[in-house]
Amino acid sequence: MPGSAAVMPVIATDRAELAAVRDGMAGTLALVPTMGALHEGHRSLIRRARQLADSVAVSIFVNPLQFGPDEDFDRYPRTLAGDIEACEAEGVDVVFAPTREAMYPDAPQVTVHSGAMGGVVEGAARPGHFDGMLTVVLKLFNLVRPDVAVFGEKDAQQLALIGRMVADLDLPVEVVGGPTVREPDGLALSSRNRYLSAADRRTGLALWQALRAGADATADGPGAVLDAARAVLGEAADAEPPFELDYLVLVDPATFTEVAPAHAGPAVLAVAGRVGATHLIDNIALQFGTAKES
Ligand code: PAF
Repeated sequence: MPGSAAVMPVIATDRAELAAVRDGMAGTLALVPTMGALHEGHRSLIRRARQLADSVAVSIFVNPLQFGPDEDFDRYPRTLAGDIEACEAEGVDVVFAPTREAMYPDAPQVTVHSGAMGGVVEGAARPGHFDGMLTVVLKLFNLVRPDVAVFGEKDAQQLALIGRMVADLDLPVEVVGGPTVREPDGLALSSRNRYLSAADRRTGLALWQALRAGADATADGPGAVLDAARAVLGEAADAEPPFELDYLVLVDPATFTEVAPAHAGPAVLAVAGRVGATHLIDNIALQFGTAKES
């Protein structure tokens, strides 16, 4: 039976509880993996998942393996009661919210290596992040056994890497992306937005403004796109608080390698940086025609 709104989901907090629920499920299952602190972006992924399968599971686990030693693992928002209410309102059938011990009974010796694509762009700014992310996603796939899994397009490199892992390791799951949900002023929804003060938030808007400025220059080719986006980020670097750029890149969506100046075809303009201690990322998909003669 598809989930229906306002029915309390089954909550599983360890492997045995999850296996018991999963073994009793008929039909197809869609999984939405999350780290909790659910917002409208997650809820849109859950609604997409409900269109794709008979039942929906949401996992909620702040995965220590994907955080660097100086990152925000300890202060990452944990809002389980509110997350369960959101899942209930969206008609989720199962919430898998394991403890750290349930997920990693022993320190893992064997993990997923994200390869060259995991070492560039966001992977260069956050070494080890994508290995940890893929490792937990593979474990979630093995434990939950979904037919389809839905991830946000805001984390475009993550989504592309999960697609590669599924293809390279022949995993029996379909990976689907869901569009980024934005505030009316364009700020991409993120669990980390709750760290932002009003002034931080004003500076953080520069990510979307830079992407929009870049997109508006698409007809003039990749160099013009990067120049237009850089100009906006340059102004944000002088704002109070300042925007500290980690990267601004124009990449091939399949490999995340930078595109050539005369590139034609699809590309992703991706930006990341910090406002205070808060790491923000965003991206926009672009399509280039034949580059103009200069
Ligand atoms: O995007 C996230 O919230 C996380 O990276 C994921 C996919 C749930 C893995 O921990």
